[in-house]
Amino acid sequence: MIGDPVNRPVMEGLRLNVPAYVRHARLVDWVARVAALTEAAEVYWCDGSQAEYDRLAARLVEAGTLTPLNPTLRPRSFLARSSPSDVARVEDRTFICSARQEDAGPTNNWVDPAEMRQRLETGPDALFRGAMRGRTLYVVPFSMGPLGSHISHIGVELTDSPYVAVSMRVMTRMGRGALDVLGEHGEFVPCVHTVGAPLAAGQADVPWPCNATKYIVHYPETREIWSYGSGYGGNALLGKKCFALRIASTMGRDQGWLAEHMLVLGVTSPQGKKYHVAAAFPSACGKTNFAMLVPPQGYAGWKVTTIGDDIAWIKPGPDGRLVAINPEAGYFGVAPGTNRKTNPNCMDSLKSDVIFTNVALTDEGDVWWEGMTDEPPAHLTDWQGRDWTPELAQAEAASGKPRPAAHPNARFTVAATNNPVLDAEWDNAAGVPIDAFIFGGRRSTTVPLVTEARNWVEGVYMAATMGSETTAAAAGQQGVVRRDPFAMLPFTGYNMADYFQHWLSMGKAIPAAARPKIYCVNWFRKGADGKFVWPGYGENMRVLEWMIGRIEGRAGGQENVFGISPRHDDLRWEGLPFTREQYASVIGIDRDAWQRELALHAELFQMLAHHLPPELPATREQLSVRLAAGAAAP
Ligand code: GTP
Ligand code: SPV
Ligand code: MN
Repeated sequence: MIGDPVNRPVMEGLRLNVPAYVRHARLVDWVARVAALTEAAEVYWCDGSQAEYDRLAARLVEAGTLTPLNPTLRPRSFLARSSPSDVARVEDRTFICSARQEDAGPTNNWVDPAEMRQRLETGPDALFRGAMRGRTLYVVPFSMGPLGSHISHIGVELTDSPYVAVSMRVMTRMGRGALDVLGEHGEFVPCVHTVGAPLAAGQADVPWPCNATKYIVHYPETREIWSYGSGYGGNALLGKKCFALRIASTMGRDQGWLAEHMLVLGVTSPQGKKYHVAAAFPSACGKTNFAMLVPPQGYAGWKVTTIGDDIAWIKPGPDGRLVAINPEAGYFGVAPGTNRKTNPNCMDSLKSDVIFTNVALTDEGDVWWEGMTDEPPAHLTDWQGRDWTPELAQAEAASGKPRPAAHPNARFTVAATNNPVLDAEWDNAAGVPIDAFIFGGRRSTTVPLVTEARNWVEGVYMAATMGSETTAAAAGQQGVVRRDPFAMLPFTGYNMADYFQHWLSMGKAIPAAARPKIYCVNWFRKGADGKFVWPGYGENMRVLEWMIGRIEGRAGGQENVFGISPRHDDLRWEGLPFTREQYASVIGIDRDAWQRELALHAELFQMLAHHLPPELPATREQLSVRLAAGAAAP
C-alpha cells in the first residue's frame, strides 16, 4: 500500500486523498504533478459506484448543471444545458502533436510537441497553470473494452468537470475495477482535462463552465491527451475520440490492429446463422440507428443485435479472422431525428437512467427534440432555457434564423445495458469475428445505395475516397461535401496516407478465405423534391440481407464500373412498395457526376501524395478508364 506516504500535502492545503486500494506509484505521482500544476482545490478518486454517481449527480443538480427530469416519465434521468459556445467537437482546435509534422500528415492540425507543452504546461502563461483553482480534480480511471480483455486498454482522466466524471461512468468501465487491472505497474493513457474556468475565492460558479479558448491535444508518441476549455462530448470525454480513436489508431498502426469509427452489429438469419458487420459512417450519419436496426415487415426470424454504436477495436484473432470489441460501455448518441418509428430500440434505451444534453424540456418535465413526434408540443423550454412554441419557431424560421427547440447536436448519454437488443457477446473479452465492413457517407447524389468491392484494394479505395455532407456533430459549416476517408478524417491520429497503407497491409495479412467483404452504401440520395428517396432505417435490412446473401454465395448482383450492385430483383421487397424507377434513382451511376467525383478523388490523393500507397491512384486510374469505356458504350 502506498496510500499514506503520498498523502502528504502537494501544496499548502491540498492532499491527494489516495484510497488505500491504489497501488500504482507512477499514477499517484502523475496525479500529484497535475494537481500542483492546475492548483486544484481538492482531489477526489472515483470508485465508479452507483452511490458515487448519485452523489455527484446530486451535486450537479445543486450547481444547476443538471435538471432532474420527471421521475415518473423519465426515471433517474437528467437534462444538461451546455453553454451555447460549447455544443460540439472543435476540429480546428484539435491537434496531433507528433515529433515530426509528416507523422500527423496534411489532414491533422500539427504543432511541435515542445511548443505545445510550453503553451499548455511549461510556459509562463501556460493554460493549465492554475486552471483548476477553486475546483475539485476528479481522478477517473477507466477501461476501454471489457475489463482485462487482451484487446482492452486502461486510461485515467483527470478532470475538473463532475459532468465528465458521471458521463465517463456511463460511457466506460469506470472506477476501481480499472485500477485493479492496472495493478502496480500497468500501462495507462494519461488524459488531462479542464474546462479552463478557475474560480477565485468566493466566486460563484456557472452551470456550464468552459473557456472561449479550446485545445484538444494529442501526443501520439507518449500517448498523452490534454484537453482545455470544453466540457462537451468528444472534446471532454477523453476515452472516446481522443483515446479510443486518435491515440488508439496510432497504437494500432504500431501493433498491427485497427481502431475505427465503426458500429458493430450481429445479424442472425431465420436459419440461426449469425454474422457480424462493422460499419463506418461519419458523425451523425446513422451508426446508432443501424446498430439498433429493427427488421421490417416480412423479416420475421431475422434479428439485429448491437455490439457497439460508434467505435470498434479490431485485431487479428487466433484463426486469422478479424475480431472486434466495442471499447465503450455506453452510447453518446444524436437525439434529433430519433423516434419510435425510425428507431424504437433507441427510444426504449432512453426510458430511464439517461443524461440528456441540449434537448428541449417539456412542461411535464420530460424531453423533446425535433423529429421525436410529428407534432411538437404546444410549449417547450428550449436547449438554452428559453420559452419555445411552434409559432415562435415558425416565425424565426421565416425570418431566416431557425431556432430549433433542441440543438441539432443534442445528445443522450446512456449505458449499453439499457439497449433492449444488446448483443449477448457485447462484453465478451474475446470479441466477435467480422464478416463484412460497410462504409457509407451522406450523399444526396452520385453514390449508389450499395456496391460490393471486387477485392480488398478496391474496398480500401472506396473507404479512402468516401465523401460526406458535413453535420452538426462538429462545429463549422454544415451540409458541404468533404472527403472523409473511412469516416476517420477527424479521428486518425497519424498520417492519413500511412493509415491507408496500414489498411492495405492488414488485408494482405488475412488469409483470403477469412477476409471480410467490403461494401460502400449511401442511404441519403435525394430526389428532385429534395426528399430522401430510400426509406432507410429498418428498411436498410434489405441491403444487409443482400450482403449476407453475398457472403453465403447465394445473392445475385450485377457488375458495374465500381464493383457489384444488386439489381431490383436481387433485393427482397416484401412489405415495401419500391418501384423499379425509384430503385433506379438510388442505384444508378451518373457518368458525368462520377467523372467529377473521380476528379475529387484525384485532389484527395494529391493532398496525401507523400506516403500514398501506389495501389490507390492505380485503382483510380482503372476506374477512370472503365468509366470512360462505359461512356463510349451505347
Ligand atoms: P455519431 O454519434 O455522431 O458518430 O453519429 P451516428 O453515426 O451514430 O449518428 P446517428 O445514428 O445518431 O444518426 C443520426 C442522424 O442520421 C439522424 O438525423 C437520423 O435521422 C439520420 N439517419 C440515420 N439512419 C438513417 C437512414 O437510414 N436514412 C436517413 N435518411 N437518415 C438516417
Ligand atoms: C461524433 O462526433 O462522431 C460523436 C460524438 O460520436 S463526439 O463524442 O462528441 O465526438
Ligand atoms: Mn462518432
